[in-house]
Amino acid sequence: MTRPRIVVPRGLPEAWMTPLHAAADVVAGPQDAVSLSRAVEAALPSADGVLTLLTQKVDAAFLDRAPRLRVVSNMAVGVDNIDLEACAQRGVAVGHTPGVLTDATADLTMALLLSAARRLPAATADAAAGRWGPWSPTGWLGLELGGATLGIVGPGKIGTAVARRAAAFGMEILYAHHRAVPPIVPDAQGVSLNALLERADVVSLHVPLTEATRGLIDASALGRMKSTALLVNTARGPIVDTDALVQALGQGELGGAALDVTDPEPLPPSHPLYALPNVVIAPHIGSATHRTRARMASVAIDNVLAGVRGAPLPHAVD
Ligand code: GLV
Repeated sequence: MTRPRIVVPRGLPEAWMTPLHAAADVVAGPQDAVSLSRAVEAALPSADGVLTLLTQKVDAAFLDRAPRLRVVSNMAVGVDNIDLEACAQRGVAVGHTPGVLTDATADLTMALLLSAARRLPAATADAAAGRWGPWSPTGWLGLELGGATLGIVGPGKIGTAVARRAAAFGMEILYAHHRAVPPIVPDAQGVSLNALLERADVVSLHVPLTEATRGLIDASALGRMKSTALLVNTARGPIVDTDALVQALGQGELGGAALDVTDPEPLPPSHPLYALPNVVIAPHIGSATHRTRARMASVAIDNVLAGVRGAPLPHAVD
């Protein structure tokens, strides 16, 4: 029996790839590839499955180069890099990795939230630069989480995991969703997006990037937020209008921002966001723990192997 051919445009560490090599003929590009390698390009016409990262655009043109493809397995929970309609039209199944990265991403959200709330970037930079004088009762004052209000935009798995953590810190929880959902933690209150933006001391984004959420946090949304409020984004960069964010922060209309995702990505070092003292920026590391990344690879491999066999994917995108 011929083994299925699986293309991995950006290869993964060998330890993670072992189950894939055991079951398939694998053609993998370099781990740091920024475009398709020659070997990957040559293998696409005969590929039965492809295992992608969120950096790989899978559009109609890509799919046309792989006419045998039965499955696209994304090693991410977000699938905004994939044209789902083009896949559906061609009968190509799409898989992703929900669940396994929920805790890691919620932990990172809290790390960013705490860092912005307690002004750690400015405080640690001042300490290192010799701007640390005698202990001052008014130095580097920030937001205390106990009693502050957190607004969760998108109370799915990750949003709910963040709410649980924040409730343990004593935060009041609001959440906004396009349909009614029961309280995501005891005493949490479901409200409209506008009410959430107006009432929250911290707004945390947990919606997927779709045409409906692109630019959701624009100048008008930012204008509704308190001038002391913090914006946390561990979802996708284009959900926020970056220029409007720079303007709101620069003009003191917003208290600060903590971003694990930006638009564009990577955010070039010359970008004005880096120059603002009330902004924390991480390089898209929400799921970056040893355990979570290994589990994501494992789920992505299970999906791609099911797909090439024509079996239902364990984690198919709806
Ligand atoms: C990371 O951003 C993911 O979607 O898994």
